[in-house]
Amino acid sequence: VEPVPKSVAWTEEGALRLLDQTRLPQEEVYIDCKDVDTVCEAIRVLRVRGAPAIGIAAAYGLLLPFRDAPNLRDTYEFLADLDRRAECLVETRPTAVNLAWAINRMCARAHAGEEPDVPALYRRLLSEARDIHAEDAAACRAIADAGLPLIASHPRLLTHCNAGSLAVSELGTALAPIYAAHRNGVQVHVFVDETRPLLQGARLTAWELSRAGVPMTLITDNMAAHLMSRKQIDAVIVGADRVAANGDVANKIGTLGLAVLCQYFGLPFYVACPWSTIDLKIDHGSMIPIEQRSALEVSHIRDVSIAPNGVDVANPAFDVTPADLVTAIITERGIIEAPCKENLATA
Ligand code: MRU
Repeated sequence: VEPVPKSVAWTEEGALRLLDQTRLPQEEVYIDCKDVDTVCEAIRVLRVRGAPAIGIAAAYGLLLPFRDAPNLRDTYEFLADLDRRAECLVETRPTAVNLAWAINRMCARAHAGEEPDVPALYRRLLSEARDIHAEDAAACRAIADAGLPLIASHPRLLTHCNAGSLAVSELGTALAPIYAAHRNGVQVHVFVDETRPLLQGARLTAWELSRAGVPMTLITDNMAAHLMSRKQIDAVIVGADRVAANGDVANKIGTLGLAVLCQYFGLPFYVACPWSTIDLKIDHGSMIPIEQRSALEVSHIRDVSIAPNGVDVANPAFDVTPADLVTAIITERGIIEAPCKENLATA
């Protein structure tokens, strides 16, 4: 059993090291980003992906490449440049709120208080990015503990996309309590949706669960209803990209279908996410922007065409599950049970 490598790290040389998730599971390749444009490209094409991981990557990305030139700029120039970088980064992906949340937090820290010199500002911001990173790791550990009893009582799970270690600082959100249960001797079994179009389930979740020795079975996205009808699944657990104040949950396209199935078959539908994914400024899921991605992701698998040339394609990357279909949201503040709207407001 090999530990899962970290998806995001800050190197001693002051670069952002990303595990290139587009190359998994065939190759484990790391890229060192030395400028903000490389980070923006990495987020856009999903070399780094998953709501918390893109937030952490963007926080560090804002610092590139200040380290080489902190003395060359005055504070005013530094802050103007930071705002320009923030704008590029925030435009890369619209749905996961963690991205904007991390960038806003970094910018607020930069503009807060007295204006130190540029090296001091750099140190202040690096320490803020490290805090964002460490707080995410602590949240994932707390989610693992909070969710463990739910997994112990529902050990045969189905998950969608990748809300594991690769999507966060470490451990995961939806996968965190599964790892904890497995470590505690619970006989878990995870059915992993392949997650078309980009196959995060097949490529990433299957890779990290099998490396960790967690028993799992890969299925295509259209098999869930059948398995539920044959009583092979006890619960569904997924991550989230943004949760509205009323408890509506945006997550990878296909999540909504699973929530509807859970209601029909009387199964619990759990969402696990850190508090940084909850957007209390948005009242309702219908206000969450849904990323639309390239048609090529649907008409092709990797570079192989699977559809007639030029066919009309839709490719929304996320859907919104209404709060009514969510049994509970597992966060570092504990388990938020339905009705999520009331319980989120007071958590
Ligand atoms: O497009 P992706 O791969 O970034 O989508 C990721 C998801 O939908 C995850 O479920 C979500 O970000 C939670 S990750 C802990």
